[in-house]
Amino acid sequence: MSDAIIALDTVTKSFGHGSAAVHAARAISFSLHAGRALALVGESGSGKTTCARMAMREYRPTSGRILYKGRPVEAANSAEIGRYRRSVQMIFQDPFASLNPAHTIGYHLRRPLKLHRPEIEGSEIDVAVRELLTRVRLDPDRVAPKYPHELSGGQRQRVNIARALAVQPEVIVADEPTSMLDVSVRLGVLNLLNEMKQEMNLGLLYITHDIATARYIAEDIAVMYAGQIVEWGSTARVIDNPLHPYTKLLLSAVPDPDIRFEDPKARLRPDEVEDIRRRSAAPQDEIVEVEPQHFIRMI
Ligand SMILES: Nc1ncnc2c1ncn2[C@@H]1O[C@H](COP(=O)(O)OP(=O)(O)OP(=O)(O)O)[C@@H](O)[C@H]1O
Ligand SMILES: [Mg+2]
Repeated sequence: MSDAIIALDTVTKSFGHGSAAVHAARAISFSLHAGRALALVGESGSGKTTCARMAMREYRPTSGRILYKGRPVEAANSAEIGRYRRSVQMIFQDPFASLNPAHTIGYHLRRPLKLHRPEIEGSEIDVAVRELLTRVRLDPDRVAPKYPHELSGGQRQRVNIARALAVQPEVIVADEPTSMLDVSVRLGVLNLLNEMKQEMNLGLLYITHDIATARYIAEDIAVMYAGQIVEWGSTARVIDNPLHPYTKLLLSAVPDPDIRFEDPKARLRPDEVEDIRRRSAAPQDEIVEVEPQHFIRMI
């Protein structure tokens, strides 16, 4: 496998102090590689966005290291930090909030090109805007002059993807990119991200509470609960053969016909479910490699 572009190495993030502290992320390690996607899966409050913000360098870890191409980012000079910020672009959950209603789609795409691509000048900028829109399967003639409110949610999310691509990133962090979209257009946006990953050799961190969608896009998966990654590895191995009780619980809640899984929830009483959640939430350092490319945290 190629070397990691970004790696989180035993990273922890706490908010607040003492008994009031919230341990949003505990001993998190994962890496993002060119042309591969990692799905970070977990329910609300499990710590997914906290990990994304650390990968974006928006939050400083309480402990642990973040590496960019093998070098700790804490040691980076300002030029390297600039390169890092440019190389990691984010796509947010709400496709509307991230676009300015007063500006056209063309404006939204010209701006990052002017800021980050000085080699593109004059009329070439409009050519680049057209290329970006075509890349995300939007019709440039129709879409560039429009304002955000004139587009559907799915089209707006495609514009956000185009805007991220304008900066020529190495990694895209997509935090619940389809959860606010109509069910009918979700798969289209996921497929587009998957194509971008392959065609442009991007590393992708795909954050979702919907473990079933990980299959469409991610080679690797990490299941998070209560600030810890409880199970991780190749997506196929983890989803076909989940071994941590919390992952089994998560999968049993998935109404996906492609995922055949004996429903343990049907057999578990509420107090048993609570017991799994309580034990899975306890901090635990012991990790077991259950098969090649498949790990669980002990419970
Ligand atoms: N800035 C903050 N200050 C204090 N606590 C925070 C902060 N950000 C997150 N938390 C807490 O950290 C925990 C993890 O939050 P996080 O937003 O990372 O979860 P998430 O998995 O992204 O959830 P969701 O699926 O709802 O987006 C939660 O208990 C949350 O309340
Ligand atoms: Mg979140």
